Amino acid sequence: MEFVVAKDYADMSRQAADLIAACIKENPNCKLGLATGSTPEGLYDELVVDFETGELDFSGVTSFNLDEYRGLDHDHEQSYHYFMRKHLFDAVNIDPANTHVPDGSNPDAATACRAYEEAIRAAGGIDIQLLGIGHNGHIGFNEPAADFPKYTNCVDLTESTINANSRLFDSVEEVPLQAYTMGIGTIMKARKILVVANGSGKAAIVRDAFFGPVTPFVPASILQFHPDVTVIVDEQAAALS
Ligand code: F6R
Repeated sequence: MEFVVAKDYADMSRQAADLIAACIKENPNCKLGLATGSTPEGLYDELVVDFETGELDFSGVTSFNLDEYRGLDHDHEQSYHYFMRKHLFDAVNIDPANTHVPDGSNPDAATACRAYEEAIRAAGGIDIQLLGIGHNGHIGFNEPAADFPKYTNCVDLTESTINANSRLFDSVEEVPLQAYTMGIGTIMKARKILVVANGSGKAAIVRDAFFGPVTPFVPASILQFHPDVTVIVDEQAAALS
């Protein structure tokens, strides 16, 4: 594991964008695993700048997002489909047909999750998977639990995640109670993993996940066993590590 302490959020975002940009330049047909949330917004802005300045070409890139709320249609403003279009897809030349986000609008969880897992497999797997980390150590929406989910699955969100994500909804009652997410096994199969975290609120979980024992009660801790992980955090998030 490479643990990089960036000066601040802007520096974290630029360094993380550089890693993703390097993958695209090395393989213009690469498969990106993407995340939503507040943490990667800055790095998506940087990738858009790289596209606008002619540094990056997304025309051959395929993407797979980690997760999506169950029950939100693709145009819902809090859906991850919408987030990705707003922060990246609509601003670069990626072919929309090559972008994938679990289909939260499909109420048939088993079918939606199986189809997603199969689409990743059929694409040849993910070259670089971007991850944020929840305050409880979740990656994707894999919440602390007694074991590590292997495949894309439907999860019940914990109260801590619902409360954390309610900042983006009009009220906590509007936050969906379930989500479809890549499993820990799906994530661990990515050839390279990039984790970003910023702010003092993430300091304790960064310490626990990357320097504590590996346990499904801190899902991100499994990343310590991945052969190619880069963790980029700002100084505040690194403060307890
Ligand atoms: C989002 C995702 C989540 C977030 C995590 C951190 O696709 O998979 O695991 O990465 O909840 O969210 P932020 O960045 O908003 O703190």
